[in-house]
Amino acid sequence: MPIKNIGVVGAGMMGAEIALSFALAGYETAMADVTAEIAENGRKKQVSLLENRVKKGKLSKGEAERTIARVSATCDYGDLKHCDLVIEAVPENLEIKFETYKKLDAVCAQSCIIASNTSSISIAKLASVVTRERAKRFIGTHFNSPASVMKLVEVIPAILTDEQTVAEVTETLNDIGKETVLVKDVTGFALNRLFHIFYLEACRLVEEGVCSVEDVDKICVHGLGHPMGIFKLLDILGHDLSASVDEILFDAYGERFRPSAHMRRLIDSGMHGRKTGEGFYKYDAKA
Ligand SMILES: NC(=O)c1ccc[n+]([C@@H]2O[C@H](COP(=O)([O-])OP(=O)(O)OC[C@H]3O[C@@H](n4cnc5c(N)ncnc54)[C@H](O)[C@@H]3O)[C@@H](O)[C@H]2O)c1
Repeated sequence: MPIKNIGVVGAGMMGAEIALSFALAGYETAMADVTAEIAENGRKKQVSLLENRVKKGKLSKGEAERTIARVSATCDYGDLKHCDLVIEAVPENLEIKFETYKKLDAVCAQSCIIASNTSSISIAKLASVVTRERAKRFIGTHFNSPASVMKLVEVIPAILTDEQTVAEVTETLNDIGKETVLVKDVTGFALNRLFHIFYLEACRLVEEGVCSVEDVDKICVHGLGHPMGIFKLLDILGHDLSASVDEILFDAYGERFRPSAHMRRLIDSGMHGRKTGEGFYKYDAKA
């Protein structure tokens, strides 16, 4: 049976954009959060993202209206019972994720696939609270932020995930225009290992006085063809989030992921990046 109805749990930064990606491609999408108000806020964010696309001429007004009409916002997990694929995007907290899967396991059909958008927790560990039968239909789908724009999704089967589930999820993601890569269930998956090793070396260049922050960013843009400098990007992402993943990678792989002392000093000084007005660069209050 092809996947038709999508559920997304968690209507926050990632969940709202993941749900929007499916709705834009024509899928009916139910989005659940802890309260109806928070779920509705996720829907409002989608409306504003769609309005931006209309303003830029990337989408017609009619297409934007039809897209948002495909999204329903709810605080009742029961509204996900008809879904063929439910993507979990609740906070990176084991207890909250376990609670979510138990509830989904109880309301969703046995054929429903549960996918987690976790950035750092092992998929096998997450699947440990669902029934053995459901574990065959449990998988990781790691979207990138902003998920309605970024094409890459890492598809991460755990040991018990069956091949049919991998095929169905990959096909559906490709159908909504995503580029998928198949990755083993290892700490940091593939993208975060590449990204963190790269930016930690960028931090070391600055700490050793080899180059300035501005010059490293120039190398990224004019030498490596990146759309923006690595320090500009880190300031957008927020250093607290990046440093928390560094710790996890350092625990798993050791020295090559040693967290940056300079970034730690910035965090200790409350300079988390653009959201605090200062990081590697300074921003005015409205930036
Ligand atoms: N932020 C990123 O750049 C990024 C990138 C890739 C993956 N991720 C992963 O995606 C997941 C979500 O991250 P986020 O940044 O969107 O977090 P977020 O805090 O913005 O959103 C989480 C949402 O989940 C809701 N929630 C909490 N408990 C819930 C429950 N029991 N049932 C339903 N909803 C619940 C919260 O109200 C909130 O709206 C995390 O696992 C994170 O590691 C994040």
